[in-house]
Amino acid sequence: MCGIVGYVGPRKATPVLLDGLRRLEYRGYDSAGVALVDEGAIAVTKCVGRVGNLIEAVDDTAGGNLGIAHTRWATHGGVTQPNAHPHCDMTGRIAVVHNGIIDNDEGLKARLAADGVTFASETDTEVLPHLIARHYAGDPHEAVLKALQEVRGTYGLVVVFADHPDLIIAARNGSPLVVGLGEGENFIASDSHALVRYTRRVIYLEDREVACITATEVNSVQLDGSDAIHTVEELEAIYGSEDKGEFPHYMLKEIHEQPESIGRCLRGRILPDLGSARLGGFDMSPRDLTEIPRVTILGCGTSYHAAMVGAMAIEGLARVPAQAEIASEFRYRNPVIDPKALFMAVSQSGETADTLGGIKEVVTKGGRVMGVVNVVGSTIARTCGAGVYIHSGPEVAVASTKAFTSQVTALYTFTLMLARTRTLGPHDAVELARALVSVPDVVSEYLAEPGPIEEAVRHLVGARYALFMGRGLSFPVALEGALKLKEIAYIPCEAYPGGEMKHGPIAMMEPGTPVIAIVPDDQHREKMISNMQEVRARGAALTVIHSRGDLKAQSLASVSIPVPRIHTLLTPLISVLPLQLLSYQAALALGKDIDRPRNLAKSVTVE
Ligand code: F6R
Repeated sequence: MCGIVGYVGPRKATPVLLDGLRRLEYRGYDSAGVALVDEGAIAVTKCVGRVGNLIEAVDDTAGGNLGIAHTRWATHGGVTQPNAHPHCDMTGRIAVVHNGIIDNDEGLKARLAADGVTFASETDTEVLPHLIARHYAGDPHEAVLKALQEVRGTYGLVVVFADHPDLIIAARNGSPLVVGLGEGENFIASDSHALVRYTRRVIYLEDREVACITATEVNSVQLDGSDAIHTVEELEAIYGSEDKGEFPHYMLKEIHEQPESIGRCLRGRILPDLGSARLGGFDMSPRDLTEIPRVTILGCGTSYHAAMVGAMAIEGLARVPAQAEIASEFRYRNPVIDPKALFMAVSQSGETADTLGGIKEVVTKGGRVMGVVNVVGSTIARTCGAGVYIHSGPEVAVASTKAFTSQVTALYTFTLMLARTRTLGPHDAVELARALVSVPDVVSEYLAEPGPIEEAVRHLVGARYALFMGRGLSFPVALEGALKLKEIAYIPCEAYPGGEMKHGPIAMMEPGTPVIAIVPDDQHREKMISNMQEVRARGAALTVIHSRGDLKAQSLASVSIPVPRIHTLLTPLISVLPLQLLSYQAALALGKDIDRPRNLAKSVTVE
């Protein structure tokens, strides 16, 4: 979603800002802009479309050692040049970029308009520079503090003043901002991705904190004027390369990175000889684990699908009641929170507003939440305080792939640890621990020989409708396959548990309807074979993802995609791989923008 970059220091600001915006492109956006403070004036350039358009429009030889830049993902007002950020006050001497939503913008707009302010855009953001201007009498910090007293809503806000070519003011409430500390220069960004090229030392601003940033100092206070205490943190070494390397798209690269990313998630955590696991960040003794009465796992989108797999594994193996919840629903249904229960929040970005809202609801009611997060230092990781990092490395493609398999791996690791304290005897535990350790090799084995994906794609391209079908642990995998296909190939499709077919969706079957069945060799296999026969009898073109050597499943398939065998609990980690490749190849065949699908953002920081 929207991205922010700011710079103050001895370098020319423009190249730093444009490079930062490039690094934030993966978040999804529809317009971009930059404001440079130079020679007592602010020069704003903004345009619709890609950062590439902005780079062409900006004079990169322009001076100016201080500036701010933004990528916008439209919420209030259409995708137009006037609506792109930065926004200025009427004199053009104050410029702001803003992530988040101002809830009382209508009231503020009416008041400002009555005072003679004219608005240049349809955005909620534009009230901010006008409001700051009304409070400005030479002290930028005081003006921003006073303006923010009148604002309700969420913001990651960065402000510059033409009169102060050495000062950036940043304020945070519900939308992340991170200050990057350099030698004689400082940076601000909504996401540390924009900073890693320049510095690893960062300060994460807290909610209601307002910081004054110059080239040599960072001073901040709370919105109420009290001191803000912050610590300097070191960004963890970034795993994996941020370039596409030999791959044509980030998504394909990230699919092929899964042996390493899953391996990193497991490293040092599995104790194969004990048949157990160690998750340092969980900070729970075996006794604590035996006392957990139930587990609820929150997430959105792909992370929710990982949560479903995790909940099924926990309940099935550790015999602890467990459920997955869509965070955006959970947060608003006034859930009952058992303070003894364990809540987990799954998020790749660690910034998803709905997941964060769910966490806050649990904490407000006295519950505890463990994060299962990829981005180190992200808001969800810091809000939970405890949990597990999945260590996928940067996931740049909007469609999540390697984060899903690492989220599931982390949840399995927790399941093993929990089940070992309750239901799982040493023999079965050692078998599962060894199987988990083998996953990276099994993933490599599949990716080396992925089967006839392109043949399956031929049934999908041009289809009016497609159906994914799975039972048990393969149902969330089916959901994930359908989500991927919608996200990047825009092919209408849905996922159903096989047992639901007769209750409705079978009406959709007609000759040639593509059905993708996920049929590992587990306790649901026989029932799935019946479900496949039912749709086949109605002319469906069946692509079957099945365990290698399953001749019966193969015989029912129009396209058979065999996958290596693995412990039945772990099958989602393997059967999701052909589905990732299927959506990738379908999007490729249809000529879609695979890494940046329409309307989607990588990190959904607003509701
Ligand atoms: C799907 C996808 C989204 C995210 C969802 C949650 O490919 O990327 O569905 O999974 O927006 O995001 P995180 O995991 O960052 O909380």
